[in-house]
Amino acid sequence: MIDNLIECISLSKQYISKNQTVNALEDINLHINKNETVLLKGRSGAGKSTLLNLMCGLIKPTSGKVFIDNICINELSDDELSNILSERIGIIFQSFNLLPTYTVFENIEIAIVPKRLKESMVKENIMSYLEKFNLKDKAHLLSSELSVGQQQKVAVIRTLIKQPSVIFADEPTGSVDDETAEEILDHLMNFRKEKEVTLVIATHGNIPEKFADRVYTITSGRINQ
Ligand SMILES: Nc1ncnc2c1ncn2[C@@H]1O[C@H](COP(=O)(O)OP(=O)(O)OP(=O)(O)O)[C@@H](O)[C@H]1O
Ligand SMILES: [Mg+2]
Repeated sequence: MIDNLIECISLSKQYISKNQTVNALEDINLHINKNETVLLKGRSGAGKSTLLNLMCGLIKPTSGKVFIDNICINELSDDELSNILSERIGIIFQSFNLLPTYTVFENIEIAIVPKRLKESMVKENIMSYLEKFNLKDKAHLLSSELSVGQQQKVAVIRTLIKQPSVIFADEPTGSVDDETAEEILDHLMNFRKEKEVTLVIATHGNIPEKFADRVYTITSGRINQ
């Protein structure tokens, strides 16, 4: 049986700003199965971030629908949607969304607050992730005191440590050198092997297609068929 997890049906998104209309996405139809790794490829401005943000309900479509586990997320209340987001979904934002006045440790800690773990377990867990990502000595620096690539790694840790079953990663290697990109991808792929997880990754193209079970290419807001 095909285990359809995410489905986008006739999804379109227009942005209207300063009397200008941008057709960011038009008539997107796609599906993603449970435990698949899917790449959304496309040039800058193609609509990848818009599509990721629609799939996790952070923005609303102009028309069309998004289903997760056969539930139309566009019809949920804010509370219902935030329950799904906090329990099941991890998002690695293109611009990281770290809190600049919090330390690296605190930025990661707030991601697992809802899990209500014992304080000693929280500390151990965070430090072991920081060690894996070669950031142990940065734990008590403010996130704004890190290099951009280091901030990207913290954004990845903050998502993985939540142990989500679905990860939306927007250019997770977009700000790092090739070697660090490989490290980040290895961590994502290992996580995927250990847990049953669905990975949806947006990329300009620096993530090889061999990592994916399925590739969707977006050109000017449309999926190439
Ligand atoms: N909040 C917004 N208001 C107005 N236009 C927007 C907004 N967000 C995105 N757009 C427009 O929608 C289009 C798609 O943008 P999007 O950020 O989805 O592209 P992208 O494929 O993620 O690009 P990149 O690879 O540079 O991250 C662009 O033309 C962009 O200018
Ligand atoms: Mg983007």
